Amino acid sequence: MKTIFSGIQPSGTITLGNYIGALKQFIELQNEYNCYFCIVDQHAITVPQDRLELRKNIRSLAALYIAVGIDPEKATLFVQSEVPAHAQAGWMMQCVSYIGELERMTQFKDKSEGKDAVSAGLLTYPPLMAADILLYSTDLVPVGEDQKQHLELTRDLAERFNKKYNDIFTIPEVRIPKVGARIMSLQEPTKKMSKSDPNTKSFISILDEPKVIEKKIKSAVTDSDGIVKFDKEKKPGVSNLLTIYSIFTGKQIEDIVAMYEGKGYGDFKGDLAQIVVNSLKPIQDKYHELMNSEELDKILDNGAEKANRVAQKMIKKMENAMGLGRKRR
Ligand code: TYM
Repeated sequence: MKTIFSGIQPSGTITLGNYIGALKQFIELQNEYNCYFCIVDQHAITVPQDRLELRKNIRSLAALYIAVGIDPEKATLFVQSEVPAHAQAGWMMQCVSYIGELERMTQFKDKSEGKDAVSAGLLTYPPLMAADILLYSTDLVPVGEDQKQHLELTRDLAERFNKKYNDIFTIPEVRIPKVGARIMSLQEPTKKMSKSDPNTKSFISILDEPKVIEKKIKSAVTDSDGIVKFDKEKKPGVSNLLTIYSIFTGKQIEDIVAMYEGKGYGDFKGDLAQIVVNSLKPIQDKYHELMNSEELDKILDNGAEKANRVAQKMIKKMENAMGLGRKRR
């Protein structure tokens, strides 16, 4: 069985973008791959976090992973900081990274732009991400399109390490969904839907109440021609809603377009709101059940134990390759 690794930051609410770009892929892949799904809390602290909120978000994300359909019997679900190998390998990967290539990462540029004080962690975030992936000899990394550049760097770093020290890393492939690789903001449809957007109307959280979802979809920015049609360039708002519609119903975009021929945006948005509400309802119910159970802690304890076992073996290989510590057998 080939191996998959992916992670999500517990830095606030989980959006429809995270669900479509990442979680939905995970569910589809868990039967065919040996999967590691991680709550990357060490990545979250590269920008300021409230400690109590962070703790809450870690638990909440774990519950959401399971509520959307990740089966802890099949996949290993764990918290990054509970597996010290990530920080250890992250440091080693930093030492094979160049400052110039890290400064060129678009996520670093976006997140540091206009800020007086930027943490060093924000710059060295990609080598930690590379460490996450490489520790498990990962073959495939399912992510949304915004992570593509980080994956390319991961491959470069792995190849550099293999060449310079010892050929120990598997070079991972990226897997980006064909539809929904980049779900856009509901308010500025030329921008990615992001949980850190200060305008909460721009994103739908998986945990939003039905009324809130309805309101957000109905007030989504579209255009003035009133025709439901897919055209990413000229009609980014409608195209984004069509993508979401298609993902939740499994219908082809052209079939949806045909269904709304001669109808306005009102009908289309009203139906879409109902579809999203009905699709998220079972996830929300399961989430609330899990948050009040002890099952979650057991799952995360088991996940951390397994991840620790696998990751420690790779740490030994990395240290041996680099000559760290004393000779070990
Ligand atoms: P994060 O937490 O920002 O996002 C988690 C996942 O959701 C995807 N995503 C989207 N997909 C489609 N449309 C959107 N609007 C959208 N917004 C987010 C992201 O592409 C991602 O797959 N660096 C990563 C976390 C990470 C990681 C890793 C991922 C750390 N280590 C190792 C994979 C492997 C991040 O910040 O994701």
